[in-house]
Amino acid sequence: MMSLRFVFCLLISIPIHTYSSEELNERAGGNANEGQVKSAACQGCHGPDGNSVSPDWPNLASQNANYLSRQIRDFQSGARQDPSMQSIVIGLVEQDIMDIAAYFATQKVKVDATSNSAAGKKLYRGGNRYTHLPACAGCHGPSGAGNGPGVIPSLVGQKPGYVIKTLRDFKTGTRSNDRNQIMQDIAAKMTEKEMEAVAQFLAGMGAEAPDTDE
Ligand code: HEC
Ligand code: HEC
Repeated sequence: MMSLRFVFCLLISIPIHTYSSEELNERAGGNANEGQVKSAACQGCHGPDGNSVSPDWPNLASQNANYLSRQIRDFQSGARQDPSMQSIVIGLVEQDIMDIAAYFATQKVKVDATSNSAAGKKLYRGGNRYTHLPACAGCHGPSGAGNGPGVIPSLVGQKPGYVIKTLRDFKTGTRSNDRNQIMQDIAAKMTEKEMEAVAQFLAGMGAEAPDTDE
C-alpha cells in the first residue's frame, strides 16, 4: 500500500512541472535519483554522468530512456551480445532498469568540439545516392537527437571508437537486435571510410561552425 501511494504522489506531482512530452515519457517509469545510486557499478566505464571514460565505450548521457532500457533488456536476454555487458546487467530487475535509464537520460552528453568531418556531415545529412545509403538524419533527426517514443537512439557526441565498432557489428551481423534489421541493412552499404567519417562527425556534432543554409 505504501508504495502504491508513493507512485500516486509521483503521478500527481508531474503536471506541476513543465516537462516536454519526451521527458514525461522518460520519467513515467523511472526515478532518476534512484537510478544515480543504482548505476554505481556502471559509472566506472560509462562515467559518473554517463560520459564514458574511453573512446571505445558508449556514452549513455542524453540517450533516450526507451532506447537505454531496451538495450539493457537485450543484453540480459542475449539478443544483443557483449561478454562484459551481459554479466553486469543480468541481475537488474525491471524497476532498476527504468531508474538507471532515467538517470542517464537526464545527464548531458559532452560533445568533442575538436572532432569533425565534412564527408561525415554530408553522409549524415544526405546519405550516398550511388550506394543507396539513406540519410542518417531521416531517422536520427537533423540534430542527431533521435526519437524517444520511436526508440531511435541519439547519436550526438557518441564516442567514435564505439560508433565504428557498432556499425561494423551491424554489418557483420554480430549485433542483430535492431528491429526489421534496419541498421544491419544500412551498415551493410557502408564502407570503412564512411563509418570512420560519420563517427568523427557525430563525436563533434552540434559543436561545429553553424551552416549559413540553416
Ligand atoms: C567494464 C565496462 C562496463 C561496465 C562496468 C558497464 N558497461 Fe555498459 N557497455 C560497455 C561496453 C564496452 C559497451 C558496448 C558493447 C558493444 O560493443 O556492443 C556497453 C554498452 C552499454 C549499453 C548500450 C549503449 C548503446 O548506445 O547502445 C548500455 C545501455 C549499457 N552499456 C548500460 C550499462 C549499465 C546499465 C551498466 C551498469 C549496470 C553498465 N553498462 C556497465 C562497458 C561497460
Ligand atoms: C530507417 C531509420 C534509420 C536510418 C535511416 C538510420 N538509422 Fe541508425 N538506427 C536506427 C534504429 C531504429 C536504431 C536502433 C537499433 C536498435 O534498436 O538496436 C539505430 C541505431 C544506430 C546506431 C547505434 C547507436 C548506439 O548507441 O549503439 C548507430 C551508430 C547508427 N544507428 C548510425 C546510423 C548512421 C551512421 C546512419 C546513416 C548512414 C543511420 N544510423 C541511419 C534507425 C535508422
